[in-house]
Amino acid sequence: MNHEETALSPENLEAIASLCPRRWDYYYTRSKLSTDPVYGAVLAHVRGSKLPLLDIGCGIGLLSHYLRAMGQDAAVTGFDYDARKIKAACIMAVRAGVRDVHFDHGDARTQMPDFHGHVVILDILQFFTEAEQNTLLTSAAARVAPGGSLIIRSGLQDDSWRFRITVFVDYFAKFCLWMKAAPTRYPDAAQFHRVLEKAGLEVSIQPLWGGTPFNNFLIIGQRAG
Ligand SMILES: C[S@@+](CC[C@H](N)C(=O)[O-])C[C@H]1O[C@@H](n2cnc3c(N)ncnc32)[C@H](O)[C@@H]1O
Repeated sequence: MNHEETALSPENLEAIASLCPRRWDYYYTRSKLSTDPVYGAVLAHVRGSKLPLLDIGCGIGLLSHYLRAMGQDAAVTGFDYDARKIKAACIMAVRAGVRDVHFDHGDARTQMPDFHGHVVILDILQFFTEAEQNTLLTSAAARVAPGGSLIIRSGLQDDSWRFRITVFVDYFAKFCLWMKAAPTRYPDAAQFHRVLEKAGLEVSIQPLWGGTPFNNFLIIGQRAG
């Protein structure tokens, strides 16, 4: 899908940002949804699917609003361990009047909901140890329905300048309190193949740099339909 097919209209972008309860979130939302290629990448994998979607580490729930604005009406459930973000996500969902969108407070290291469908993990694996990453990936893969996908965006460890910028920005996000934690460990490509293929998924990995300076990759695990 090209940029025109995945970009929000200016009206939809403003409508989503206007749902935010705090000024900071308003500007964050405008910037994130207009520049980050990850939401379009998720759309490309779930477009037209009726399977529900689980968003692990959903933040303030931007993915759900993006998918609704792009015409996707399958159910979305998100959870995050940051109570402030979940509160904002719930307020935004009520303000938007969206159906079948639910947010809960929860820690992905200790609890996972019963679920079958598509599973999304965007930018949270770096907060986990290697063992915790493997446990989460296995648990997320078990929740992917036949015909569904596990869609992950993560920075990968390597010696590039992109990786150094990614680490710096993650520490900065902790410093300015946007994130509750500093990064712990970035996964590597072999780890995704090893853990997800063992769980029965077919794995593909490609760069997802867009116009950003980050060392981000899109990791897709598909379960045969
Ligand atoms: C960079 S943000 C991404 C937010 C959202 N996925 C998005 O792309 O808009 C990472 C999110 O992961 C959440 N997170 C980190 N560790 C978590 C954990 N153990 N359980 C649940 N959420 C977690 C953070 O609170 C934060 O909202």
